[in-house]
Amino acid sequence: MSHDHNMPDGFSVREGSLFCEAVSADSLAQRFATPLYVYSQTAITDAFAEWTEAFGGAEHLICFAVKANSNIAILKLLASLGSGFDIVSGGELRRVLAAGGDAGKVVFSGVGKSAAEIELALTAGIRCFNVESASELALIERIARNLNKVAPISIRLNPDVDAKTHPYISTGLKENKFGVDAEVARALYRTAHESDVLLPVGIDCHIGSQLTEIEPFIDSVKHLKNLVLDLRSSGIELQHIDIGGGLGIRYRDEEVPSAKVLITSVRDQLDDLSMELMIEPGRSIVGNAGALLTRVMVIKEGETKDFAVVDAAMNDLLRPALYSAWQTIIETAPSSVQTRVYDVVGPVCETGDFLGKDRELGITEGDLLAVLGAGAYSFTMSSNYNSRPRAAEILVSGTDAHVIRKRERVEDLWADECLPEHIGSQAHDD
Ligand code: LLP
Repeated sequence: MSHDHNMPDGFSVREGSLFCEAVSADSLAQRFATPLYVYSQTAITDAFAEWTEAFGGAEHLICFAVKANSNIAILKLLASLGSGFDIVSGGELRRVLAAGGDAGKVVFSGVGKSAAEIELALTAGIRCFNVESASELALIERIARNLNKVAPISIRLNPDVDAKTHPYISTGLKENKFGVDAEVARALYRTAHESDVLLPVGIDCHIGSQLTEIEPFIDSVKHLKNLVLDLRSSGIELQHIDIGGGLGIRYRDEEVPSAKVLITSVRDQLDDLSMELMIEPGRSIVGNAGALLTRVMVIKEGETKDFAVVDAAMNDLLRPALYSAWQTIIETAPSSVQTRVYDVVGPVCETGDFLGKDRELGITEGDLLAVLGAGAYSFTMSSNYNSRPRAAEILVSGTDAHVIRKRERVEDLWADECLPEHIGSQAHDD
């Protein structure tokens, strides 16, 4: 077995066997079946602590991007560490509240907030709306007035910088749907400033995800700073600067700057403004804290390719299919089987259904594999395609393994579907 990978935090290989904290992957798979999402509590706690330490003494709020992993046990854990939350829907807000999170530490991002979602957020008393258009600002104003509330707002600046990441997860270019340019932002702040029910409290941006360089962050921070100074000179004082999320993780061999390096260079730019710093990290907190365990069902030797058909598929983990994302796949136990190169594929009826291509593995049918780096955008992007129940999720802490989401049952899949009486009620004539 070739276990020369850098193992992510919370996972280790001992005498050839994969462990999540003090629990072996094999025992987890035996106990809870596969496919199975497994997270290390310590890895999440450590990653959050790394962000906290990165800020040093600076006043700040870390708002975990709920979309990366929205399991309420994970949200509860982060809330207990003092985390705030970046949400993009009423559903995510409801999850944060269900987990015991503090609405006063929630920022609400997204280009399409519905009236019902805005109402929910205003009633819950969120920290701030990250506003992305003039229409949204007008809608928030109308609803705030109806509810007799003041809505705290931030305008999301689109700084038009190239985040140098996959085009689907790049958000800070002017051709992307996100944010508004500086001129529009100025006008929106003016509108908010003049409104008795809108309160400009901050400014935000988010330029993309899985960023591996500091420069795009710094570029965007400079744009934020210019606008803050500009607004100040026109009498609009903001309290916070939210630089968004986006710091990448190592999936394979990426060299990613640390939170400390990033925040130190951000502070170099912003400290003289004396404003609270906010950040919306998702992947960098949970990405490497999770793995997807999956069993090899069939080894299929093709003419030009060998396939390992496993019991997890694109419905469980979409990133490889959607972004051609590369995630490490390893055997979870020592094996004496000769290694071969396989495409690791799922049972879903799509050619795009793969978890990894051209992977060297020493496996036989029934063996267990782990797909690493599966803590972010993994379970949250899963679906029931091909009527596959979604996997269970386990949170490991030391020697304890807690079920934080039960495996879906197949009956759950049509529980909300209806059988209208009129179908099949007429006799066939033919
Ligand atoms: N803030 C906003 C406004 C965002 O849109 C996002 C992510 C984040 C924060 C958190 O970014 P992070 O720190 O996790 O990079 N499904 C894709 C990633 C989509 C990211 C969307 N927005 C993937 O699997 O790579």
